[in-house]
Amino acid sequence: MAVVVYILFAVLIIASSLAQSTLGDRPWPASLAALAADGKLRTDANATVPASMDFGNMTSALPAAVLFPSSGTDIAALLAAAHATPGWPYTVSFRGRGHSTMGQALAPGGVVVNMASLGGPTAGPRINVSEDGRHVDAGGEQTWAEVLNATATRGVAPRSWTDYLHLTVGGTLSNAGMSGQAFRHGPQISNVLELDVITVHAGSWPALHRPAGQGGNERLVAPKPDGSFGPVNYLEGSVFVNSSLATGLTGTAFFSDADVARIVALAAERNVAVVYSIEATLNYDMGGSSSNDTVASVLQSVLDGLRFEPGFAYVRDVAYAEFLDRVHNEEVALEKLGLWRLPHPWLDLFVQRSRIADFDAGVFRGILQGTDVVGPLIMYPVNRDRFDDAMTAMTPDEGEDDVFYAWRSCSRR
Ligand SMILES: *[C@@H]1O[C@H](CO)[C@@H](O)[C@H](O)[C@H]1NC(C)=O
Ligand SMILES: *[C@@H]1O[C@H](CO)[C@@H](O)[C@H](O)[C@H]1NC(C)=O
Ligand SMILES: *[C@@H]1O[C@H](CO)[C@@H](O)[C@H](O)[C@H]1NC(C)=O
Ligand SMILES: *[C@@H]1O[C@H](CO)[C@@H](O)[C@H](O)[C@H]1NC(C)=O
Ligand SMILES: *[C@@H]1O[C@H](CO)[C@@H](O)[C@H](O)[C@H]1NC(C)=O
Ligand SMILES: *[C@@H]1O[C@H](CO)[C@@H](O)[C@H](O)[C@H]1NC(C)=O
Repeated sequence: MAVVVYILFAVLIIASSLAQSTLGDRPWPASLAALAADGKLRTDANATVPASMDFGNMTSALPAAVLFPSSGTDIAALLAAAHATPGWPYTVSFRGRGHSTMGQALAPGGVVVNMASLGGPTAGPRINVSEDGRHVDAGGEQTWAEVLNATATRGVAPRSWTDYLHLTVGGTLSNAGMSGQAFRHGPQISNVLELDVITVHAGSWPALHRPAGQGGNERLVAPKPDGSFGPVNYLEGSVFVNSSLATGLTGTAFFSDADVARIVALAAERNVAVVYSIEATLNYDMGGSSSNDTVASVLQSVLDGLRFEPGFAYVRDVAYAEFLDRVHNEEVALEKLGLWRLPHPWLDLFVQRSRIADFDAGVFRGILQGTDVVGPLIMYPVNRDRFDDAMTAMTPDEGEDDVFYAWRSCSRR
């Protein structure tokens, strides 16, 4: 069984009616009438209201209709109609789990495509692991949790993930898809071999080929001269502002109450404004060649290479899938408390290495001082060469600089 040694050490630095024949007051274009007649294109409130909100819960907009496709051909028909009907361009958005934060999954007055219906009960297998276990072919509507489940039964798994797995493959790939593995494997989109793309020319599905993936502590993320990486598989930095230190630490669900008390006491003793922690994993295979002793010695060598408060390293040994799906436990806990569905003002920023100290001074030691930070402040140092410029995500261009930081603030309000 694959297991992850999960280390975390606090580093203190001083300081309706089914088919209608009209869309609003306009008749359906002929090409869509068949979809409406099949009940795939719906305008009833049971279809449109759930598609009018997203996870961010800060904006809402009712679509005129929702398409429940059973194949790419249905989606191509919708796009072709939008493209071809004079005076009738409408917004089309593709909704997986609706996990956007500022309404990107919404289509005001237009059509939301409910991607989940591609994986409906009559669909064939939607996740296929290749014979040699080196690739997985998944429907865009499948969640990463489902992909993990399907691959893990074969003893393999994708290399790059998001923090939260109950999001669709199509959704995260359209935004790069990043977590603590990105420094070595790149974001999820860097690991895609082939995409099926639906174009407005009905029925055509050209495959888009991309190169296979070329694969803080900046020392932990830096490749060696031969391009290989050290033992750390996952790396994430967290920042805790003193004024909400205890709630912040408790919110990570990693520290026991006693750990929280110790860290808070140390912060008070040192009179710090900000506490930084690094979370890292070492993957090992219990059935493989690495014995317990090997893992322990590798762990020690990683710790030996870092400066941190002695006595403030915390280690956990968990199954690989449990580690990857850790945010789901927080979801379940927050849902019980009624805190999962609050508005989520989130911000993701890429900050170049040369300005990270200014960012720290201005944001963590400046703007955020004294504020009640609710939700994590996360920082991933990443190697630029794991990204390319064919992505929708723009990376900072800093000449020779090879590292930048992906900063994420995921607030709950
Ligand atoms: C909407 O959903 C409710 C509850 O499931 C159901 O009773 C009602 O018949 C549905 N209406 C339409 C138009 O599908
Ligand atoms: C999975 O394989 C089956 C059988 O070959 C095929 O019909 C299906 O389209 C594949 N699904 C995906 C998502 O590749
Ligand atoms: C994983 O797959 C099994 C078998 O298909 C299923 O019973 C189980 O619910 C799945 N678990 C998740 C988390 O999807
Ligand atoms: C940190 O927070 C504690 C408790 O709120 C407060 O007593 C202390 O003055 C704060 N320290 C700094 C440096 O802001
Ligand atoms: C060593 O092995 C034991 C039993 O297999 C396990 O409980 C323990 O967590 C392992 N420790 C490490 C550091 O791998
Ligand atoms: C949006 O947030 C409010 C609290 O501000 C909550 O009552 C509501 O249930 C949320 N709606 C959704 C769809 O998550």
